[in-house]
Amino acid sequence: MATIYAAALVSLLGWRLWRFTIWPLFHPEEPRELPYWIPCTKHFNYTKEPFSVTLLGQTLYIVTDARDAAEIYKDSKSFSRDVLVHQLYSKVGISRAAIKRLFRADPQAPYNLRNAKALDPTDEMMAIYHQHLSPGLALDSFLDRDVIPRLQAALQDCEETTASLRHVCSQAFIKGFVASYYGGIIFDIEPEFVKWYLQWEELSWKLIYGLPGFLSKDMLTAKGKLVDAFLKYFSLPPEQRGHSNFWTDSVERSLRDVDLSNEDVARVFTMQTWGFLGNAHKVAFWLVAHLVKDRSLLNSINMEVAPATRGGRRLDHRYLADECPKLDALFDEVLRLTVTSPLVRGISSTSTIGGKKLQEGKQVLVVYRQLHFDGTVWGRSPQTLQSNRFLDDKALKSNLAYRPWGGGKTLCPGRFFARKAIFAFVACLLGHYEIHVDGAKPFPRADLTKPTPGSAAVADGDDILLHLSAKSEQ
Ligand code: HEM
Repeated sequence: MATIYAAALVSLLGWRLWRFTIWPLFHPEEPRELPYWIPCTKHFNYTKEPFSVTLLGQTLYIVTDARDAAEIYKDSKSFSRDVLVHQLYSKVGISRAAIKRLFRADPQAPYNLRNAKALDPTDEMMAIYHQHLSPGLALDSFLDRDVIPRLQAALQDCEETTASLRHVCSQAFIKGFVASYYGGIIFDIEPEFVKWYLQWEELSWKLIYGLPGFLSKDMLTAKGKLVDAFLKYFSLPPEQRGHSNFWTDSVERSLRDVDLSNEDVARVFTMQTWGFLGNAHKVAFWLVAHLVKDRSLLNSINMEVAPATRGGRRLDHRYLADECPKLDALFDEVLRLTVTSPLVRGISSTSTIGGKKLQEGKQVLVVYRQLHFDGTVWGRSPQTLQSNRFLDDKALKSNLAYRPWGGGKTLCPGRFFARKAIFAFVACLLGHYEIHVDGAKPFPRADLTKPTPGSAAVADGDDILLHLSAKSEQ
């Protein structure tokens, strides 16, 4: 028996020596492989060179240098999001034939007749986002007509004197955004939409990791409820939906143009809805959490935003966007601290990044957390919120190490909308209520154990209890 163990140990040591010491000596152009079975964050402190890890037999390249990340963003052909969207669509149950059509640019498709260059339906959806959410009249009227009244209504519904901040944010943003895009009828179809959406969001890691069905029943139920709701919604003739939205109508039309079935349309909308709901409620939570824990910060932001709500006028989101530098700086800092999930790209042709060859067919991860907490950019205490950081140094916003909205071709098209909606939410909350919290309670922790796109989720069980009293009308 001892001889077997000794032989196994010798082979293991020999393999490690070959794999991590001898082989890299002869291939300096290849990213060094991390010599651990479980990646260790200490490694990040030693080098900013791209390196690789092997997980379950798959090689994954890791990039932690802001300049290398910028190179990846620049080359959207070699580093493509499509490979991953393709995988996600397939995992979520979209038929193979439909996936093929979603990535094929058909110049004859009716929606392409108005495009200078033929787009596939996936890029067309992104182009529609840009038309709908770029600064201008369309975005302003979407906010004035659809979004802000719903955020205000959600806040006025807080009749209780104590409320969970998590609950307030998720109800306002998820209910508000969903109704803005699909109308209230979606809640007639599925009254528990918000509950199922939150369950899906919490458990979506099971789909990403490909857990088998018997370990994912809860996630599959939540996903099924959302798909069913959209199936019923998109089976209704548009005139019976009682609501219209430019993005929803245009995306549906482009999917119908390439003959997607109702079932596939429902699954595409389930994924897109996750995309536009996934971050705002969490970022709003983190922002308000920092505000209510620091009385002097709360007072100063309160004074800054008050003119936007004063005198019973319609909430002025232009004022909030243009005249509130302290809120703007706090928002940027909260994004820096909380948007820490990595960017993932599929490599479609072998390319050199940071002097290292990244091979076609593999995946590369840009670790935002590493960029956002890099002491050489953010100073001695990058983990601590500094509400004036972005006010004191205006150049930080465009630093290559600051990537809350991603970059390159896939830079978040919802960034202007998200900023304005979150500012409006904060101004309504502060305008409507005096807020107190129990200062002795610990600050909520972020859940960094599961993959969540964008902003970190709040750890299970953590929250802030708000004590609210309505302010008298000014
Ligand atoms: C504070 C809230 C938000 C944050 C922090 C955020 C963050 C991000 C990030 C980091 C990416 C890049 C992902 C990548 O390149 O792989 C992204 C992409 C995207 N975001 Fe956002 N986002 C937010 C809100 C929104 C909203 C409200 C919408 C839509 C209404 C939206 C729509 C999208 C879309 C469609 C993409 C994909 C772009 C593409 O692949 O071309 N986001 N977002």
